[in-house]
Amino acid sequence: MTQPATTRATVPAPAGRPPRSAPGWWRDAVIYQVYVRSFADSDGDGTGDLPGVRQRLPHLAALGVDAVWLTPFYPSPQADGGYDVSDHRSVDPRLGELSDVRALVTEAHALGLRVLLDIVPNHTSDRHPWFRRALAGDPAARARYHFRTGRGERGALPPNDWESVFGGPAWSPVPGAPGLWYLHLFAPQQPDLDWRHPRVHEEFASVLRFWLDLGVDGFRFDVAHGMVKADGLPDIGAARQARLIGAQELPFFDQDGVHEIHRGWRRLLESYGPDRIGVAEAWTPTAERTARYVRADELHQAFNFHFLQTGWEAGELRQVIEESLAATAGVGAPSTWVLSHHDVVRARTRLGSLARARAAALLMLALPGSAYLYQGEELGLPEVAELPRAARRDPAFHRAPGTAAEGEQGMRDGCRVPLPWESDGPSFGFGPGGSWLPQPAAWGALSVRAQTGDPLSTLELYRTALQLRRLLPGLGDSAMEWLPAPAGVLAFSRPGLVCLLNTRDEAVCTAAPGELLLCSVPEESRDAMEAGAPADQLRIPANSCTWWAA
Ligand code: NOJ
Repeated sequence: MTQPATTRATVPAPAGRPPRSAPGWWRDAVIYQVYVRSFADSDGDGTGDLPGVRQRLPHLAALGVDAVWLTPFYPSPQADGGYDVSDHRSVDPRLGELSDVRALVTEAHALGLRVLLDIVPNHTSDRHPWFRRALAGDPAARARYHFRTGRGERGALPPNDWESVFGGPAWSPVPGAPGLWYLHLFAPQQPDLDWRHPRVHEEFASVLRFWLDLGVDGFRFDVAHGMVKADGLPDIGAARQARLIGAQELPFFDQDGVHEIHRGWRRLLESYGPDRIGVAEAWTPTAERTARYVRADELHQAFNFHFLQTGWEAGELRQVIEESLAATAGVGAPSTWVLSHHDVVRARTRLGSLARARAAALLMLALPGSAYLYQGEELGLPEVAELPRAARRDPAFHRAPGTAAEGEQGMRDGCRVPLPWESDGPSFGFGPGGSWLPQPAAWGALSVRAQTGDPLSTLELYRTALQLRRLLPGLGDSAMEWLPAPAGVLAFSRPGLVCLLNTRDEAVCTAAPGELLLCSVPEESRDAMEAGAPADQLRIPANSCTWWAA
C-alpha cells in the first residue's frame, strides 16, 4: 500500500519575527482563536491565563498558523466570559499582568506569529467607572449610555420592546430611580454605550492606541454591527427579536451609522502602518451587508458567519462560497472562512461527525482568502453537551432557564471546555489544578500529546494542510475555478491544487484530478481509491475532502 496521504508533513513552519511592513499579510492568513480562559492555565486556579498562552505559543507556531486572536483578558467581573470589560487598558489579575501581554507579543513575533486583541466597544461592564458614575446619577456619565424613562404608569414598563440577545428584556431598571431604565443588548451587566457621544469615540481611539503602542498587530471588534441604534429606538414587534447569531434586520444591528466608526478606526490603524488590521464580528442578513464592513476605507476582514451557518450540502456550500467571494470581490477585500468559534456548537458536532469536520477543514483551507481556526478544532474536539448545571457560566443559560435560549445560546459553555494537552493528569495538562468546566474522561485520547506524531490524527491533518498551504505559491488570495463534478461533490481548482469535496454518505467514482496530496480520511490512499473503481476512475470516500497536485 502507498503511504496514506495524511502523512506528508515535511515542511517546517517558518520561524522568525513577522516582517513589520508586510502589507496584505492578512489577505490569506490563517488566524487561530485563543479563548484565553480555556487554553492553558499556568497557576492551577482552573482558569486559563496569559502566562499559559505564552508557554503554549510553540504549539501554534508548529501548527503553522500566521496569527493569534486573544479573547478579552481585561479586568472583568466575568458576567459574560470577559466580554464585560471594566478597564480596557489593563489585565485581569486572575489572567496575568500587562507585562505578560508585552512578553507574549514579543515571543509570538519571534515565532513568526502576529497578535490580535479583542476590543469590546458596544458595551462596558456595569462595574466600569463610567457606569458606576452613571448609576450614581452623574448626568455626564449617563449621557454615554442609553438611559430612558419607561412606559406606562410611573414608567414601570421598559422604554421599548427590545429583547436582550441572552433572553429577557433589553432594559433593566436603574436601582433607586423609579421609572428610569438602561439599555443592554446582552446581559444586564453589559450596559450599551451611546456612540453618538464624542467622548465614547475618543475613549476607544485612545484604547486602540494604547495597545498598538504596545506592539499588537490589530483587533477583532466585538459586536462591530451593534454600536449604532436607529433614531428614536423604535419598537420592532415581538416576532422579530434577536438571538446572538441571528441575522435579522433590527433597529440595533447593522445600522448604516456603524460604518463611520469603522472608517475612523481604519484611519487610526493605518497611522501605525499598513500591516495593522481590524476584523469585524458583524452578524448581517447577507454576504453583501457583511462586505460593507470591509470596503477599502473600513476594516480589513469580517467573519464569514454565512459560511459557518451552512449545512453539509454541496449545493448550499457552493452557493455560500460564490456569494461570499462575489461580495468581497465587489469591494476589493478577501473573503474569510470560519467553521467554529466560542459562541457556536463545535464543527464536529454541528456537522454530524469527525469525518465531516476534517473534510470541512480541508475545504476551508483550500478556499481563496483567510481562515479562522478555533482552539481545539485542530484536535477534532466535539461539543460537550452534558455539563452540570452548576458548572455552566454562559449568562444566556441562566437568564432564560427552560426556554429556547437555554437550548441554543446556553450551549456556549459546551465549546469552551478547557483544552487537553496531555493524555492524563488532573486536567489533561490544561494546568496543574482542575479546570473551570469539567473535561470529558475521553479527552486524554484527543490531547495534543496523544495526537502529535500520529499521521492519522486530526492534529497532523491540520499541520500538513497548513504546511501545504504555505508551500503552494499563490494559493492564498488568488482566484478559484469550479470544475465539473458528480452530484453531492464539489470540485475546484486553485493554483497548483485541485480540491474535491464529497458531501455524500457514500463513495463517489470520478476521474482522478492529479496526484493525491492530502486526504481527510485517515489511512486512505490512492491505491485504495483505485480498488473497486471503474478504469481511469477513483472511488472518492464518503464525507471526505481531498487535495490533488495539479
Ligand atoms: C460576541 C462574543 O463573541 C460573545 O461571546 C459575547 O457574549 C457577545 N459578543 C457580547 O459581547
